[in-house]
Order: sequence, then structure tokens, then C-alpha cells
Amino acid sequence: MTLVRARVTDTPDDPFAGGALRHDEDAGLLVTDGLITARGPYAALRAAHPAEEVLDLREGVLLPGFVDTHVHYPQVRVIGSLGLPLLEWLDRCALPEECRLVETSYAAAVAREFVEGLVSAGTTSALVFGAHFAPAVDVLLEEVARRGLRVTAGLVVSDRGLPEPLLTTPERAYDESRALAQRWHGRGRIRYAVTPRFSYSTTEAALDACAAVLKDEPGTWFTSHVNENPAEVAAVDRLFQDALHYVGTYDGHGLVTERSVLAHNVHATDDELALLAGRGAAVAHCPTSNSALGSGLFPMRRHVEHGVRVALGSDVGAGTGFSLLKEGLQASFMQALLGPAGLPLTPAHLLFLATRAGALALGLEVGDLSDGRPFDAVWIRPAPGDPLDVGLRNAASPDDALAKVFALGTPADIAGVWVAGERVDGARPRDVMGPER
Ligand code: GUN
Ligand code: ZN
Repeated sequence: MTLVRARVTDTPDDPFAGGALRHDEDAGLLVTDGLITARGPYAALRAAHPAEEVLDLREGVLLPGFVDTHVHYPQVRVIGSLGLPLLEWLDRCALPEECRLVETSYAAAVAREFVEGLVSAGTTSALVFGAHFAPAVDVLLEEVARRGLRVTAGLVVSDRGLPEPLLTTPERAYDESRALAQRWHGRGRIRYAVTPRFSYSTTEAALDACAAVLKDEPGTWFTSHVNENPAEVAAVDRLFQDALHYVGTYDGHGLVTERSVLAHNVHATDDELALLAGRGAAVAHCPTSNSALGSGLFPMRRHVEHGVRVALGSDVGAGTGFSLLKEGLQASFMQALLGPAGLPLTPAHLLFLATRAGALALGLEVGDLSDGRPFDAVWIRPAPGDPLDVGLRNAASPDDALAKVFALGTPADIAGVWVAGERVDGARPRDVMGPER
């Protein structure tokens, strides 16, 4: 057992439903076998557990580990190709790189970089778009298992419209996906996600194969892209003449359920939002990607009004990094830019979107630091004198402090990351015994 002492901020109550930020200035969290087994004022917990080792994280702030609900493993090396719209960006930047993962040794190197990117940004859980090649998915999940993160991922399926090396057949997609799901789903913290790339690159037969995997491997998840860019939406309309709309291209195959996460949904119709809400599916909002590709301003208010669950995704590599702090900040900018149509986001909204909302979208019992949850946490501790350090020391309130974390925080400010009580960022805390200054 360890007694963690920290300034703890989290969002157990949904701020979109009126919940407020929870902040404890001097909290004690008793961590037993990776679970938080007691939470309260530090002094009270210390009195009750006088002999426990204390992990002193009082400098900075302790948050729940971030949950990234949409991120592409093969794209870590193409982050930062700015200024192209989706289909051109795929052709010129993303897909040529994704072809390289046919070499499993190349994929293994990318997998190490990718998982390090997640960890160093404080992401403890993620729904990951895998690769088009089964061995490349294996090396990703081996690396995830080695580092201990909570990852849901799968083989990316496409059978049309992409460069030939990325294409498969419905039969092969079914066989390879099932084999991967059988090897990985439920192993440690890993789960399998059935992953057609998007309707633009899948035939009805491939979507049927995806549905068959979901049915034959119970408990697996579903993820894809939807309504990201107007040219893409128009192309999907032409390809699926019988579907009511883009969401309908998936729903017609039974792929939209409470275990589905669809990325983007920037150009959704009311009918699509009503369908997503009715099915209990979640949407991954990816603000820096939507900005970098000029995809559009996410209609957060319409999602919330329809009752569609929303969480955050980094969408690396169209997104500009792994940090969900940056995504939260960009989400707030974009809602502000929408003017009266936007939904003003408070710091509590941003933290919820980056943590508990993602956990809810992925059906994970994480996302806040309540008694009974796994200790998945990220310790934000800026260097002394850094603008974030100055901001935290002068914050007017816990909400103000959190706003400063989103405005100024980067992976360089992350001093510790834990999953189920295990340190995953590969170093000991900088000051277990107390502040170094
Ligand atoms: N739609 C299909 N593939 C992709 C991708 O890799 N990134 C984004 N942003 N959208 C996509
Ligand atoms: Zn994506």
C-alpha cells in the first residue's frame, strides 16, 4: 500500500449535466494493489495509516490519467504536415507512411515511438487506430503490454480507394481480425477494436466482415471515422446510394452501438445525431486535427443537446501532438470561434472531456480519482519559475489553476504517470521525499 499525498483535481460529476470540478488541496489517496481504496483529507488518512509509505506529490497538481479516444499509431512520424485538406493529406502524408509498416521491424520502431508519445503526454488509456498489416498490430500490442497502458486497438480494414498495399479482402480482413482479437482481446489491459478505416475505403462486403468479427468476438469494440470533411462526405454519399447518411453506412451493418466510437462528426445532420444518441455511441472530437486539416468547427452544442456522448481524441498524426491538454485548449478555442452556436467550455468541461468522458466512451472504470477506481494518474509539475508554475502559485481558484494547466501545460510539465498504481513513465518521481527546492 502507498499513501499518495497531492493536490487532486478531477470531474466525477459530468459538467455537461451540471457537475462541478472536485478539488482537494491536501488529499490522501490510499493505493492498494493498484486501486484507490480510500480517499480523504491527507491528515485523516495519515492518522488511520501511520505506517504506510507516503508518495508526496504536493507540488503541482495530480489529475486522472488522460483518455485519448482517437489516435493513429502509424502516423507518429508524420505529425505536423499542416495545411492540406483530409483527402489530399491522406494521399500525400499519411498513407505513404502507413505503407511502410508492412516492414515489421519498421513498425516495431514506430510502435515504441508511439507508446512513448502517449505516456509522455500523460495518456493512460487510448482507443488506437492500428495498422493495415496484422504483424504491425501485433508489435504495437506487444509494446503496449510491455509499457502497461490501457489500449483498445485493432487491424485497420480497407478494400478500396487507397494505395494497393493497404488493401485487403473482406475474407482476409475477417480472418486476420479474428485471429488478432483472439490473441489480444482481454489480455491484461488490452482490448480489440474492429476498425474499418472509413466508409470511403470499405465496400459493403468489408463492413459485413467487420460486423461478423464484432459478433463472433463478443465484447470487442468498434471505431471508425465519420463526417470529417465535406469532400469526403460527398464521396461517401456517392458510394453508398442506399444509405440515409454517413452514420447510416455503418448503422446499416449493425456497427453503431454503445461500444462504438466514431471520430470527428463535424458535418453531422440532426438525423445522424439522433441516431448516434439512440444507439448510445460516442464521438471522438479531435480539435487540433479539425483545425490543421481545415475540417471545420465541431458542433459540440448540437451533440450535447441531442444527448450524444463526446470525448477528446488527439488524432495524431493529423492532430498536432499527443497532449490532451492541447486538445482541450483547442476545443475551447473552437467553441469560442463558433460564437452563439458554440458551447462555452469551462476548465471543468475540458478536464472531463480529457478524462472521465473518454473513460465513459470506452466503457472503462477510470477517468477520475474516486475511491474504488484504479490509480491511473498524471502528475503535472512544471519546473520552478516556468509560466505554468507561476500561474499555479498565483491561481485565484482551483478552476483558475486548471485553466492555466490547459493553457500552458505541455508534456514537459508531466512529472509522473501511473496506470493501476504502476509507474509507466520509466522514472522514479523526482521528489518522493519532498520538494527539492
Ligand atoms: N479518415 C480516414 N483515415 C483518416 C486518418 O488517418 N486521419 C483522419 N483525420 N481522418 C481519416
Ligand atoms: Zn483519425
